[in-house]
Amino acid sequence: MVNYWERVEDIIKTHNLFHLKLDIELPKESIQEVQAVYDEKFFVEHRGKKHKGWDSTCIHGIDGDYWKTMSGKQYNYESDSDKNIKWDWTDVCYYAPKTVEFFKKDIPLKNYRRLRYMLLRPGGYILEHSDTPSGIPYTTRKQTSIFSALNICITQPKDCVLEHLSNGVVPFKPLEVYMFNNDEYHHAYNNSEENRFHIIAHAEYDYDFAELFVKSFEKNYEHSI
Ligand SMILES: [Fe+2]
Repeated sequence: MVNYWERVEDIIKTHNLFHLKLDIELPKESIQEVQAVYDEKFFVEHRGKKHKGWDSTCIHGIDGDYWKTMSGKQYNYESDSDKNIKWDWTDVCYYAPKTVEFFKKDIPLKNYRRLRYMLLRPGGYILEHSDTPSGIPYTTRKQTSIFSALNICITQPKDCVLEHLSNGVVPFKPLEVYMFNNDEYHHAYNNSEENRFHIIAHAEYDYDFAELFVKSFEKNYEHSI
């Protein structure tokens, strides 16, 4: 019998993955739901010097507070791995029932940490950066970098991109779910007149996720890389 985690190890050892589209989609209701969350004014400015028009709100986060969108360090914890953090679902969930159901039942993830809506406003941008602790990509490629975060597209206006410096634009379409390697340099901009809504998810991956990873890779990538 195939052991999917062994297959995952083999794939990430032999392929330098910048992104991986997963063979699963957000429910279409997610588009109206994020609009309701926006209309209810849940989004807060996501601090930082390297971006403009970058707002966020937590679906699941530290102490169940929707406004705690930054990493644990900003709230006096060691990091998001700090065992003292109480992670919980937030009030945003009441406005996004189908989206929440997707994360609780459909996608094989567990023990969510930060699960956030991210808004890039018209004219907004995020300058080139790497999300490693040092802010510089690892000199020796880390095979697990592709597991650093999930980036899920809800809306994708024209002339709005998320792009790796050395691998180009991620070809997002609404409702598509991607794994995204945020250790490599990347940047984003929204040159449209519309809000661009995505979700960034940090969680643990269970065995069913390994199966999804392998099947998605075989379907979407194996013959093109
Ligand atoms: Fe980033």
